[in-house]
Amino acid sequence: MTTSAMRDCFERALALEGILRDFYRKAALEFSHEESVFRFLQALAADESCHIAVLEAARSRTEDPLFDAPDMRDLLSRIEVLDARLRGETSKPYADFNELYLRITALETSEINNIFEILTTGILKDPGDSGPMRDLIKDHILRVTDLGKRLDRSARLKMLSRPLPRGPAD
Ligand SMILES: [Fe+2]
Repeated sequence: MTTSAMRDCFERALALEGILRDFYRKAALEFSHEESVFRFLQALAADESCHIAVLEAARSRTEDPLFDAPDMRDLLSRIEVLDARLRGETSKPYADFNELYLRITALETSEINNIFEILTTGILKDPGDSGPMRDLIKDHILRVTDLGKRLDRSARLKMLSRPLPRGPAD
């Protein structure tokens, strides 16, 4: 059975994944004039939608009356710290793709993906399920950090110094 700390953990983690998804969607629209950047940011937004669905599925498993909920208070404190940081980082303006990209790498190397893994595998105590979740996050982080594989060098250099056509959207 779930506990109130566990419910709060899922609720806040889901909200954070939603903030990231919206941040990437909005950024994609700002770079809609640059096809490769647009596709990169859209793919990140799609990953976040997938993380939301996976978290929701994990949450429904914790609602089983036979589920033995661990103590989640420490994790909840960690999520609260992350929450403040992530909301701050996603609301600051950026001037060009380089600034945006640095922001994205900071977001994706924060605790957000650890927390996702804990909530979708760690607490479920089901090692049979942990492989696919780990791969999901690994692929997501590789998408962010392995930009060189997705875009050729000249496209990257061009993008890195290219300002937004207008200020970041509200
Ligand atoms: Fe995510």
